[in-house]
Amino acid sequence: MTSIGLRSDLVVPLGDGGRIPLLGFGTWQLRGREAYEATRWALEAGYRHIDTATGYGNEAEVGAALRDSGVPREEVFITTKMPPDHVGRERRTLEESLAKLGTDDVDLWLVHWPPGGTAGVDSWRAFIEMRERGLARAIGVSNYSLAQIDELTQATGATPAVNQIKWSPFQFDRAMLDGCRSRGVVVEGYSPFRAARLDHPVLRRIAEEHGKTPAQIIVRWHIQHRVVVIPKSARRDRIVANIDVLDFALAPDEMAALDDLGHG
Ligand SMILES: NC(=O)c1ccc[n+]([C@@H]2O[C@H](COP(=O)([O-])OP(=O)(O)OC[C@H]3O[C@@H](n4cnc5c(N)ncnc54)[C@H](OP(=O)(O)O)[C@@H]3O)[C@@H](O)[C@H]2O)c1
Repeated sequence: MTSIGLRSDLVVPLGDGGRIPLLGFGTWQLRGREAYEATRWALEAGYRHIDTATGYGNEAEVGAALRDSGVPREEVFITTKMPPDHVGRERRTLEESLAKLGTDDVDLWLVHWPPGGTAGVDSWRAFIEMRERGLARAIGVSNYSLAQIDELTQATGATPAVNQIKWSPFQFDRAMLDGCRSRGVVVEGYSPFRAARLDHPVLRRIAEEHGKTPAQIIVRWHIQHRVVVIPKSARRDRIVANIDVLDFALAPDEMAALDDLGHG
């Protein structure tokens, strides 16, 4: 199986160096054996980007799946996240993540939510230090507003490489996308299906026209927007199907119709 995560047309550059695969595997709510098996299936299916978090309680299973898969560590982009209530113990949090994952570093470390609703400048300084020490190859944020991103940049001179936010055709926010891009921040979408109505008639019509499922249309829509997408499933058939999106393209009018779903 081709490892899609390594295709050069399916990666986007990160502002602080490196590249992030556009397609990744989400692991929220996967625990224990289920997390291990699903991650193994994802790696087998060709995913080369795994999204976890301290808060998901599955870093050890993700790490074990990666080791047992035989896929070399350097071929897989690993993201984890620091919970906002870990402010003040950033280094320990990252070291614990690395110990569970069984890796020397992560490719991307995110502030999971704005700590206490603030930008969390002190935490961000600690993130920068961890990047400089080589424990995180890139650092970013999640669930941040553009104003909070600007606050971090103005205070430290270091712009988050990524903002991971809820994203789907039903959440399409052109101002956020353009605002992130103009700042050099890659938009990474989460909950592509949970934030959508998979039975919406427009989505179903487009899916039928392409002989694809609504879920596949949503994943394809992200890729054509160059927005990172990290669908989660516990089911092997869906894990495989969710990235079977490279044999068709959405036409400009279809992209526009999908962009509009959030405004209908
Ligand atoms: N930064 C943050 O604050 C944040 C928040 C939420 C999520 N995330 C990340 O984003 C990832 C994805 O988001 P998510 O887990 O919230 O939701 P999601 O990927 O949008 O959807 C997952 C749900 O959709 C179902 N599903 C998967 N494939 C499907 C298909 N082809 N057809 C129909 N249903 C399908 C799954 O059920 P089955 O498992 O039964 O297939 C599961 O119930 C997470 O796993 C996590 O890594 C980050």
